[in-house]
Amino acid sequence: TTSVGFIGWRGMVGSVLMQRMQDEGDFAGLDPVFFSTSNAGGAAPAFAAGAPALQDAMDVEALAKLPILVSCQGGDYTQDVYPRLRAAGWDGLWIDAASTLRMEDSSVIVLDPVNRDVIDSALARGVKEFIGGNCTVSCMLMGLGGLFKAGLVEWGTSMTYQAASGGGARHMRELLTQFGDLNAAVSAELADPASAILEIDRAVLAAQRSPELDSSRFGVPLAGSVIPWIDSDLGNGVSKEEWKGGVETNKILGRGADAHIPFDGLCVRVGAMRSHSQAITLKLTRDVPLDEIADMIGGFNEWAEYVPNTKDETTTRLTPVAATGSLQIPVGRVRKLAMGPEYISAFTVGDQLLWGAAEPLRRMLLIALG
Ligand code: HSE
Repeated sequence: TTSVGFIGWRGMVGSVLMQRMQDEGDFAGLDPVFFSTSNAGGAAPAFAAGAPALQDAMDVEALAKLPILVSCQGGDYTQDVYPRLRAAGWDGLWIDAASTLRMEDSSVIVLDPVNRDVIDSALARGVKEFIGGNCTVSCMLMGLGGLFKAGLVEWGTSMTYQAASGGGARHMRELLTQFGDLNAAVSAELADPASAILEIDRAVLAAQRSPELDSSRFGVPLAGSVIPWIDSDLGNGVSKEEWKGGVETNKILGRGADAHIPFDGLCVRVGAMRSHSQAITLKLTRDVPLDEIADMIGGFNEWAEYVPNTKDETTTRLTPVAATGSLQIPVGRVRKLAMGPEYISAFTVGDQLLWGAAEPLRRMLLIALG
């Protein structure tokens, strides 16, 4: 069996990856070596019985002994360590959740239910960098990839509703702390059915605007609000998250500059925990009946799940609360828009830590192991 090094397996994405690998019995097919930035020499995790003691994640020589490395350690680590590994002559496969190498010509973005062809041809020509995509992009393509692959999408826009987990574990805690603090600010009034709602609203707003409310992670309050900007400011009115939506979608689909599908929209943080939602508008290349569109969405892979466009189905199946913890990607609200028969809407939800992060990596690892 092949030895595989894991870096960043203890963080949020890494933990989800480790859980998925245990659930699927993946560790039986490889010899894991666990690295740590803080606890080299410590015991390997209990779920990987027989694995050697933790090795130093900053030790390039130790890393370079592995033919495959899987990193969930984050972009700063990749930026620091990856070039040094290559400079030391390491020739192995690098599988990474971070965005650092995603748009390099030398890398492929992995989402095999959508781009197995791109992955296979990259492996055949000796590509060594296999990078997980942006969570929003991966979840969108898992749900709507069937329409893209059928050549039906002339252009698309995505207005997102992104969960706190996209910022990180501490962002999720901050959101919950804020919810609690806001509740605490009005709990007496809430307990009294006769209290005035506008008074309660005023008190909540005062708590949201108070410097006492911890919003150090998101910068501004998220509980009871939304933040229509995610990631850095590219200086041209576009956020980095929005830029990723267009460039990564096309890269995953293997579409070069001459065949780019315009894909753009606004990315918005909302107070959901770990599932990203997005409202999509697609301009189709031709008028296709809705039942055919439904078949193309639901039939594309075993995870895309077409949700009939009714109030009941939508509200029970097409929410972050419904989708979290599942590999299923519900896609609903599909209908023709008033602009014309080639314009359709869709709404899709996906667990940002599963298809949005861990799952494409573990599947890429299995592909690499053959
Ligand atoms: N950038 C994403 C977000 C995280 O902030 O929601 C996953 O790519």
